[in-house]
Amino acid sequence: MLKRNKIFNPQGEDNSAKRRIIKGDTTGLFQLNDARYSWATSLYPVMIGNFWIPEKVSGLKDDARMFRSDLSEAEQRAYKGILSFLIFLDSIQTVNIPNFSDYITSPEVNLLLSIQAYQEAIHSQSYATILETVVDSKEREEIYYFWRDNEILLKRNEYIGKIYQDFIDRPTDKNFFRGIIGNYLLESLYFYNGFAFFDTLVDKMKMLATGRMISYIRRDELTHVTLFANIIREIKNEFPKIFDENLIYKMFETAVKQDIDWSIHILGNKIPGITEETTRAYTKWLANQRLELLGLKPLYPEAVENPYKHLERLQDTNSDKSNFLETTVINYTQSSSLNGSWDF
Ligand SMILES: [Fe+2]
Ligand SMILES: [Fe+2]
Repeated sequence: MLKRNKIFNPQGEDNSAKRRIIKGDTTGLFQLNDARYSWATSLYPVMIGNFWIPEKVSGLKDDARMFRSDLSEAEQRAYKGILSFLIFLDSIQTVNIPNFSDYITSPEVNLLLSIQAYQEAIHSQSYATILETVVDSKEREEIYYFWRDNEILLKRNEYIGKIYQDFIDRPTDKNFFRGIIGNYLLESLYFYNGFAFFDTLVDKMKMLATGRMISYIRRDELTHVTLFANIIREIKNEFPKIFDENLIYKMFETAVKQDIDWSIHILGNKIPGITEETTRAYTKWLANQRLELLGLKPLYPEAVENPYKHLERLQDTNSDKSNFLETTVINYTQSSSLNGSWDF
């Protein structure tokens, strides 16, 4: 069992040399001048620099008009179903991130988790902003509660919800590890077929304001991927017995299967630029990329090409000044050059 952090633990030791990612013994104070994890101090300015609010993104009225006049029936259905899944994911992230913080014993990492929780809340608010303008109240209900009548979505939501609930109910080492791998899959894989759908719309100059918000959300999510990839790597360094490679591969396999099934169900073959084949290829390619970030071999060695490579120009992860969405460039690779200092 893991022990939940005490609010204040006067006997604790804050010296960074003795700090551990979990199961440490800190006082509970945010002593941030003495940081151990240099990747955390490097990630902080990137996360803070990504600040945005949905209320400042203009053009949703154009999206509302376009939704009725320019989207096919299949695109409208996909827009609603994809948003429903993203809404669910950001909801549970907003609620659950603090549950991980309760067991992380590094203030510099807890700092980032607090920023993440705040960003997940902003994402939730951004969906509300989209739904307020683009669709009518009946459709809004339908989108929030799509899972009520959709067995495939309900199963997906229950799967990840149960992984988190098991960890909250019984915070064993194993349930903690399952929880952070579940979190990593959510952040690094679950969102991306949905993001690809919005990219294909933007590629055809459709739903540009929604696309811009999705782009900001993705920029945040990529920092969350980095954060959790690093937490998992620290678990491997500091607690090799908790790190369970077989479990990672098993969970990846399940997640890829679920993501392909759901994405094919909601996107099908009727969205220009997306086929069942590209959905399969993209999900497997992405899973390999995410495993590589954890220092693990690919699960699908045959999936070496990103079928949506042509859409990368719409994403803000590339340092391209002519970036269509005019968003800030981030570089989310891990930096170890700062040695625990907070230089901007
Ligand atoms: Fe999010
Ligand atoms: Fe996230």
